[in-house]
Amino acid sequence: MKEKIEAIRQAAANALGSASTQEELEALRVKYLGKKGELTGLLKQLGSVAPEERPKIGQIVNKAKQDLEEAIANHRAVISRAAAEKKLALEAIDITMPAKQKKVGVLHPLNRVLEQMIDIFKSMGFDVVDGPEVETDHYNFECLNVPEDHPARDMQDTFYLADKLLLRTQTSAAQIRTMETRKPPIRVICPGRVFRADEVDATHSPVFHQIEGLVVDKGITMCDLKGVLEQFAKEIYGEDTKVRFRPSFFPFTEPSVEVDVTCSECGGKGCRVCKGDGWIEILGAGMVHPNVLRSCGIDPDEYSGFAFGIGLDRLTTTKYKISDIRLLFENDKRFLEQFD
Ligand code: DAH
Repeated sequence: MKEKIEAIRQAAANALGSASTQEELEALRVKYLGKKGELTGLLKQLGSVAPEERPKIGQIVNKAKQDLEEAIANHRAVISRAAAEKKLALEAIDITMPAKQKKVGVLHPLNRVLEQMIDIFKSMGFDVVDGPEVETDHYNFECLNVPEDHPARDMQDTFYLADKLLLRTQTSAAQIRTMETRKPPIRVICPGRVFRADEVDATHSPVFHQIEGLVVDKGITMCDLKGVLEQFAKEIYGEDTKVRFRPSFFPFTEPSVEVDVTCSECGGKGCRVCKGDGWIEILGAGMVHPNVLRSCGIDPDEYSGFAFGIGLDRLTTTKYKISDIRLLFENDKRFLEQFD
């Protein structure tokens, strides 16, 4: 009997050593300590042991049972601790790992330049005003000294919505609306979309953007215009930028000029961006025509003013060396994301 107990003890100890899961341990417990287990079975056989031996053998079997129970309990604790540690290791968070970058939108290049322009003009005391995109012939042409049948109407191919109702071809309409509602001194800019029935190509789009500027006060001269535009050009393109005025014609200004800046890419030597010219035309401007002042109830003998219309798209494409204006309107994320 003693040998039997010892053999079972040994076998149980070996099995215990190789059990690595809770399930294996449970199977082991059932095998040795369960109702029909081997050690339990030994107790039932005590009847066949000589009576004087019985208490002793009983003790040995019970001791073996107890030891095994204890060993199983210990082993159980070891296994569950190991399992917990494994789980923790698996779920461990590497706090040094860089966080996932959340994609946030970026400003459209046109808006970037526009915001910069607004800052520049605000710092010079200009207010920002808004005007409607659907305009009347009256504001878009008539009051700007472009009467019906005036050949200057051919300069701008107009989208008409109805008789005398059109998509504004220029933000200049805002000049009139401003002068009707404000008294001099006036210093405003009006950024916005304008529309012309132009063929689409790398430099033309039927929708584009202008920033209109208007200053009206006593004693305003061409020098003021030049000073403001020079300051603006230097802030947008850099300190070394030079500005050139070329005589031109607009019905609503007299005299009228077109304004070029030295190419910021080549500094005026001539390159791909400025098409070899060294200069880039960015706006039209001039002294507000007396007829225009008069049509808004401002006395041209008392007041004078200057106005300008900057092409935002041109400014943006040259500033960022964008070769095709269409890129500004296609909303291709691969293009837009570059302006981070
Ligand atoms: N409106 C003109 C255009 O679209 C640009 C312009 C020229 C605006 C002279 C002005 C100006 O205010 O004085 O071509």
